[in-house]
Amino acid sequence: MSAARSSIPAPVVATRRVARWLDTLGVSPMALDDTLAWFNPMWRVHQLQARVVRRVAETPSAVTLVLQTGPAFPALRPGQFVVIGVTIDGVCHRRAYSPRTLPDEPGHIAITVQRQPDGLVSTYVQDSLPVGSMVAIEAPSGEFVLPAALPAEVLLIAGGSGITPCMAMLQHLHAHAAHTRVTLLYFARSPVDRIFGQELARLARQWRQLHYVPVDSVANTAGVQLGQASGARTLDLPMLDAACPNWRQTVAYCCGPAPLMDAARALWHTEAPHGTLHLEAFTAPRASGDPDARHAVTLRRSGDTARFDAAGNMTLLVAGETAGLSIKHGCRQGICHECTCRLTRGTVQDLSTGQRVEGEGQPVRLCVTSAMSDIELDALNG
Ligand SMILES: Cc1cc2nc3c(=O)[nH]c(=O)nc-3n(C[C@H](O)[C@H](O)[C@H](O)COP(=O)(O)OP(=O)(O)OC[C@H]3O[C@@H](n4cnc5c(N)ncnc54)[C@H](O)[C@@H]3O)c2cc1C
Ligand code: FES
Repeated sequence: MSAARSSIPAPVVATRRVARWLDTLGVSPMALDDTLAWFNPMWRVHQLQARVVRRVAETPSAVTLVLQTGPAFPALRPGQFVVIGVTIDGVCHRRAYSPRTLPDEPGHIAITVQRQPDGLVSTYVQDSLPVGSMVAIEAPSGEFVLPAALPAEVLLIAGGSGITPCMAMLQHLHAHAAHTRVTLLYFARSPVDRIFGQELARLARQWRQLHYVPVDSVANTAGVQLGQASGARTLDLPMLDAACPNWRQTVAYCCGPAPLMDAARALWHTEAPHGTLHLEAFTAPRASGDPDARHAVTLRRSGDTARFDAAGNMTLLVAGETAGLSIKHGCRQGICHECTCRLTRGTVQDLSTGQRVEGEGQPVRLCVTSAMSDIELDALNG
């Protein structure tokens, strides 16, 4: 990808060396960052910043922000996410977004944000984040990426805003491996709601190897449980067979709302157990344990020991907050690890994997963990 930088620029490497040297003298690397930021906020080498340089309305409820990144921002692999920190009323809220590079604008990336009902950050981004604003940005991360050796055929399945990592992959394949056969199945409520709809249609006309299948359906986009939306088109076997006859042998990526991902997971489980399906969820999984259970939680922190009850259908973070505690957290999506504690007694469920976790010393992320018994935890981040 032409805009991605393959190595860290020499001035950034030199600045990091100076920061390490200062560290040995007892001067915080952040002090150097703050000094650099005084000249230009994007010269930071530790707490990275990006500037909003353009806003593009994609649909009535989705906006693309073009962000200018600083020299220390690392190369991006298509499909990865970045965590963006947006300050609202003095508090920095961090959320993950799946960016794409802009071939004609080195040093810039684009994120597309879909407004969520009652969503704090997505609403703020839509309504109140003007061009010129600075946002915190972290290094790209995530495993929802194309393999280094690009396959001959790729199947992308997207629902709603789940198109964003797929679009990054699609652009990469078009630019660097245009011989790859790509099928894109894209569920949106209607053509008006289809993010990048015109761009995708244009790309499909130009690129013969792209088989683009737009599907108008609320069932895979509006949080409706499969089968509940009468007449709605959902991901099923006939649809997959028609769109991509070779799907069982094709490397597949699926990103979208839970019903779409559940449908894909079930199809691969029953029809292609040896196939390759990569999944990426945008929302933290919900706890589905017993709402009437009351598990006693003891949380030891540096300053105090907090005690609260957790129902089986709540994450430990929500249970603590419901009890009135202020608990250190960042993304609330299981990706930043700020809420990580060490389990010292009891059993919990990791909602991101569905696994039971028990035994002393296991790290648990409170935002994606629910209690299965009385538990004790040591906070790791204060
Ligand atoms: C790896 C990763 C990549 C992501 N990439 C993108 C992206 O490219 N574009 C994008 O728009 N979003 C993306 N997201 C989602 C994004 O991080 C935020 O969760 C989203 O913007 C909502 O944040 P909020 O503060 O507005 O909502 P919150 O205030 O955190 O939540 C408000 C309510 O909305 C619900 N909600 C939150 N997010 C969703 C959702 N995606 N679908 C349905 N209900 C939801 C919550 O359950 C809650 O009830 C990504 C998430 C992850 C984990
Ligand atoms: S708040 Fe980010 S992992 Fe829990």
